[in-house]
Amino acid sequence: MGWHPTQKRKELYHRESRFLLVGNDTLVAFSMFRFEREDDVDLIYCYELQVAPEAQRQGLGRKIVDALVRIGKAYNMEKIVLTVFLGLCLSFGPTRCSCFCSQR
Ligand SMILES: CC(C)(COP(=O)(O)OP(=O)(O)OC[C@H]1O[C@@H](n2cnc3c(N)ncnc32)[C@H](O)[C@@H]1OP(=O)(O)O)[C@@H](O)C(=O)NCCC(=O)NCCS
Repeated sequence: MGWHPTQKRKELYHRESRFLLVGNDTLVAFSMFRFEREDDVDLIYCYELQVAPEAQRQGLGRKIVDALVRIGKAYNMEKIVLTVFLGLCLSFGPTRCSCFCSQR
């Protein structure tokens, strides 16, 4: 738990990392994810989902999650996993948090 720059860099530059980037000249949002298999289940693991502060609360985060769901379905993944820190969950509220992360 916590911020570990070396570990995070390793994670981001992992050969199996895949990116969804949003923006034109400037990067506005991104997600880093990987196709993984855990306990015999094929899944998309979303390691990062970041929306620039000035672009937040305009539906971009949800669109990225929707895109991940579509990618997962296209590649026959069974689920999407996103780790959410308890603090973020508490600030969103449990209902919002599960809603934001739920599979659709
Ligand atoms: C979390 C994050 C990705 C959300 O992206 P976003 O583009 O602002 O989210 P959206 O506008 O698509 O909102 C999606 C839902 O979450 C809710 N939401 C978003 N930010 C919220 C907040 N701070 N508090 C409560 N609800 C929030 C929205 O109301 C919406 O729910 P609704 O459709 O039921 O109204 C963005 O705030 C962010 O990048 N935060 C910093 C990084 C981070 O915490 N990443 C997540 C873990 S890797």
